[in-house]
Amino acid sequence: MIVGIIGSGGREHAICKKIKESPKSSQIFCIPGNAGTNSIAQNVDIKINDFKSIKDFCLKRKIELLIVGPEQPLVDGIVDYFNDTKIKIFGPNKISSQLEGSKIFTKKICEKYNIPTADFKIFQNFEDTKDFLNTAEFPLVIKADGLAAGKGVYICKNVNEGIVAAEEIFGGKFGIAKNLLIENFLTGEEMSYFVVCDGENYQFLGTAQDHKRVGEGDLGKNTGGMGCYSPSRLFNQQLAKKINDKIVNPTLTAIKGLGTTYKGFLYVGLIIKDDNPYLVEFNVRMGDPECQTILPLLENDLIEIIDDCCQGKLKKGGIKLNNKKSICIVLCSKGYPEQYEKNVQIDGLKNILLKKNQYIFHAGTKLENNNILACGGRVLNFVSLTDDFKNSRNDVIKLINQLNWKNGFYRKDIGYRVIDL
Ligand code: GLY
Repeated sequence: MIVGIIGSGGREHAICKKIKESPKSSQIFCIPGNAGTNSIAQNVDIKINDFKSIKDFCLKRKIELLIVGPEQPLVDGIVDYFNDTKIKIFGPNKISSQLEGSKIFTKKICEKYNIPTADFKIFQNFEDTKDFLNTAEFPLVIKADGLAAGKGVYICKNVNEGIVAAEEIFGGKFGIAKNLLIENFLTGEEMSYFVVCDGENYQFLGTAQDHKRVGEGDLGKNTGGMGCYSPSRLFNQQLAKKINDKIVNPTLTAIKGLGTTYKGFLYVGLIIKDDNPYLVEFNVRMGDPECQTILPLLENDLIEIIDDCCQGKLKKGGIKLNNKKSICIVLCSKGYPEQYEKNVQIDGLKNILLKKNQYIFHAGTKLENNNILACGGRVLNFVSLTDDFKNSRNDVIKLINQLNWKNGFYRKDIGYRVIDL
């Protein structure tokens, strides 16, 4: 099968590798890919928002299965754009992608279907928001309604922080904002829960816990994710049943109520408190870096799962994850998530000998004159799977130290909740 993958992050490199392992794949194109995907597939220099060029390319190169990695093209309707072709495109359509594209859309579903989540209020202008904040109790969470590239969520400890958040959101920091959302702050522990859906049925695809803050001890600015581990320590079958019954099933019913169905990965971002799940957000894709820890645990053929989903015939009980403990640490450019230098060379990657169950997934890298250059904030994902989290993390840190990239930094404490020091 000729497969296309849209995206250029660590998630897409991990997907690409898993697709490459499938005996069903004959050729893989990554649009646009990175220096890592380039070594196992053919990168294609097309922008992910250029739907016409993507479609023309897929038709010309006879791509049969197209996997969409990031949220933006999904929210912008790339799946609907392919409706007039025979290409199987994996990901939710534009309506269903509103689960990530609009936080208010999701909150309204939660309200209607009694899905456990934080109480919320919607505001349309700065003045009303300010009036509310002046008498509110803190902490509160203030969110931009639309996509904000992993940003646009403020945890506010007092009225001043709340006003700054509202000013930035209505000021257009995350694009034109007609609405913002204020939520109660939920206490508990975060867990990311993944399923894969075929429009009718879905299957569990693992859990993870990521570390979003740039600094050790989960301090400092928010990032796209500095590392994660899988499975989450909170996961058990009773909890899975509650998540499915209280959150996933009613959401898929709500999507059906809108006259459509959900096909694709569904990432359920949760807070777990007293063994009960509360929905924080949905993402209509795999997490990054969660995907880099989960896919190496997957024992199935990923093409088969995705192809079955596209055909609406996902097999029940068919997905198997092994019992290993998987850790991913992200090596970032110094300065990230703020200013960082671009086009810095990374030497020595080829000299690192990876053992079984060790992986390096590229993110912000590109190939220029046979040199690998860092072109993004999150640059490389180092992953190891062993029988315990401590060994996995030690392995990963050894690999990063072997590379010894002078322009990089990473968090040494990824997975601290599951590792006794
Ligand atoms: N790791 C968080 C995300 O993918 O949004």
